[in-house]
Amino acid sequence: MRTQVPLLEIKNLHVQFKVFEGVLKVLNGVNIVIREKEKVGLVGETGCGKTTTIKSVLRILPSPQAKITGGQIFYRGRDILTMQPREIPGLRRGELSAIFQDPLASLNPVFTVGQQLGDILKHSMKHQGVKGISKKEIRSKAADLLRETGMPDPERILKTYPVQLSGGMRQRVCISEALRATVKLLLADEPTTNLDVTIQDQILRRLDDLVEERGTSILLISHSLGIVRDLTERVYIMYAGTIVETTRTRRLFENPLHPYTKALLKTIPKLTGKGLSEGIRGRIPNYLNPPQGCRFHPRCDSAMNICRKENPPGFSAGNDHVAACWLFRG
Ligand SMILES: Nc1ncnc2c1ncn2[C@@H]1O[C@H](COP(=O)(O)OP(=O)(O)OP(=O)(O)O)[C@@H](O)[C@H]1O
Ligand code: SF4
Ligand SMILES: [Mg+2]
Repeated sequence: MRTQVPLLEIKNLHVQFKVFEGVLKVLNGVNIVIREKEKVGLVGETGCGKTTTIKSVLRILPSPQAKITGGQIFYRGRDILTMQPREIPGLRRGELSAIFQDPLASLNPVFTVGQQLGDILKHSMKHQGVKGISKKEIRSKAADLLRETGMPDPERILKTYPVQLSGGMRQRVCISEALRATVKLLLADEPTTNLDVTIQDQILRRLDDLVEERGTSILLISHSLGIVRDLTERVYIMYAGTIVETTRTRRLFENPLHPYTKALLKTIPKLTGKGLSEGIRGRIPNYLNPPQGCRFHPRCDSAMNICRKENPPGFSAGNDHVAACWLFRG
């Protein structure tokens, strides 16, 4: 049994967005734990709050529209939400990193790949206390990082600008940046969704090997339960701003409990980047006025009276398996 402080612990996180029409009550008490060297998945249909969750961890939610209205986010026992703003860039350059869906948006168009990777490597080494490293050594390390992601001809790629690369190559650059030596936790937000299917598979396998070799923890966000089944040990299922079920990945496929998870599993292999609604009747609620009680009740065939009034807490089904559904209150 693992007893150490988790690497990341998101506790009862609430996030709202102020828009012209009013206030969107998006995250509604999100709880996620990631331990050292763990590979964890986060799955849910489009608009359920996956990106909002990781942007909260990185403290990059759009300001002033977004507001964290409750909760805590502990990184190695320290609450990121109470850290001084000047501490955050250091954390992101040091131990915490992220890969997003759109690599072009993550890379700086006016610097070459070599300049960007070199800069990140320098900061990362400073974080490790390494000083006096030469430009040549940095360049050689940057080329090594690219090579490890399966990038062909890394020395040449270092001299190019992001716009000169294909989507798959750009994402390999982002993976190289994200997997520098000091990184302990990688937040990967649908890192291959915009790439074609054959490249997706290659990149995800390479990412998985690298994470495994380095002992990095990963939170892998995906629409695809298939990807999460292959690449993670534990999984969180999210619906309309709440975690509705969590357990070991294998167990989720063998014994899903929550009605939403069961419906999601039925949609394989119909899952697409456009969401899952074709497999589940109805759609995700309007966050301006979300349903009272269980947010899934308007779409749930098992809904009872209590479901329309009270939000279900997480009920334990043993073995690290928790379902937030009144059917499991015991
Ligand atoms: N910048 C924003 N301004 C206003 N509302 C926003 C903003 N970003 C997110 N939201 C609201 O939060 C909800 C959740 O968005 P989020 O991007 O976290 O979903 P997601 O699960 O990552 O979806 P996808 O799978 O499509 O990436 C959206 O449906 C939207 O209502
Ligand atoms: S709490 Fe009720 S409405 Fe929600 S998933 Fe469970 S049975 Fe369905
Ligand atoms: Mg998203």
